[in-house]
Amino acid sequence: MTAVLETRALDKRFGGLHVTRGVSLQLNAGDRLALIGPNGAGKTTFVNLVSGVLAPSSGQVLLNGEDVTDRTQAQRVRAGLARTFQITTLAPHLPVQRQIELALFERERLTGRAWRSIDAYPLLAAEARALLGDFGLAAHAGLATELLAYGEQRLVEMALAIALRPRVLLLDEPMAGVPQGEGTRLLAALAALPAELAVLIIEHDMDLVFRFARRIVVLAEGAVLADGTPDQIRRDPMVRAAYLGA
Ligand SMILES: Nc1ncnc2c1ncn2[C@@H]1O[C@H](COP(=O)(O)OP(=O)(O)OP(=O)(O)O)[C@@H](O)[C@H]1O
Ligand SMILES: [Mg+2]
Repeated sequence: MTAVLETRALDKRFGGLHVTRGVSLQLNAGDRLALIGPNGAGKTTFVNLVSGVLAPSSGQVLLNGEDVTDRTQAQRVRAGLARTFQITTLAPHLPVQRQIELALFERERLTGRAWRSIDAYPLLAAEARALLGDFGLAAHAGLATELLAYGEQRLVEMALAIALRPRVLLLDEPMAGVPQGEGTRLLAALAALPAELAVLIIEHDMDLVFRFARRIVVLAEGAVLADGTPDQIRRDPMVRAAYLGA
C-alpha cells in the first residue's frame, strides 16, 4: 500500500536553530495519528513543511507516492492535502454557507463562476447543505462566521477542509481556545470524519489524544522520539521522562 503522506528525512533550520531533524513518517488511508510533544518541539513547523508553507532545508514530502517537495500549497491541496491552522484563518464577514460554497467552487475549479448562485449547480448545493448538516452548522448557515462561537468557527474550518475532499487532513490544535462546553461538538465532528481519510492531529489535551488516536508520534527537539500505539506510548519510559511526566 502506498502511503498517502510520507516524509523522508525532513530537516529544517532557521539560521542556527535546527527545528526539524530527520523526520521520516508515513500516513496511510484511515490513519488516526496524533503528533505530540512539548511546546517548541517543532510540531507546527512539521505541518508547515508538509503543507508547503515552509520549504525544508533538506528531505522530501510525498503525497500518494509523488514527490511534492517543490510544489506550492495550492498544488498540494489539489493533490489531496488539507489542513486547518493553529490560529483561525476564516474570512470573518462571509456567511458560513457562502464560505462552504466557495470551497466547493474552488474544488470544482469553478472559481471564475463563484459569483453565481450555487443553485445553478444542484449537486454542489446539495453537498453544501450536507456539509452544514454534518458539522451541525445548518442553523447558522446565513450568519457571518465572526458571529459564531469560537468552537463553532473551528467547526466551519473543519467543514471547509472536508469540502475539498482531501485524502489527508492535518489539524493543528483544533481544540485550542475552545471553551469546555463547546468541546463536545468538536469531538463528535472528529469522530465522524470520513473513515478512509488519513488524519494527523496536533493536540496538547492528552485525554483527546488517547481517545482519538490509534497511533501516536512524539516529537522532541525536532526529532521523532517515539512512534507507536497509544499503549506503547503510554508505557514508553523515554516519553514519560520527556513529556508525559511520571
Ligand atoms: N519562522 C520561524 N523563524 C524562526 N524560528 C521559528 C520559526 N517558526 C518556528 N520557529 C522556532 O522553531 C521551534 C519550533 O516551533 P513550532 O512552532 O514548530 O513548535 P510547536 O511544537 O508547534 O510548539 P507549540 O506546541 O507551542 O505550538 C521554536 O523554537 C520556534 O521558536
Ligand atoms: Mg504549534
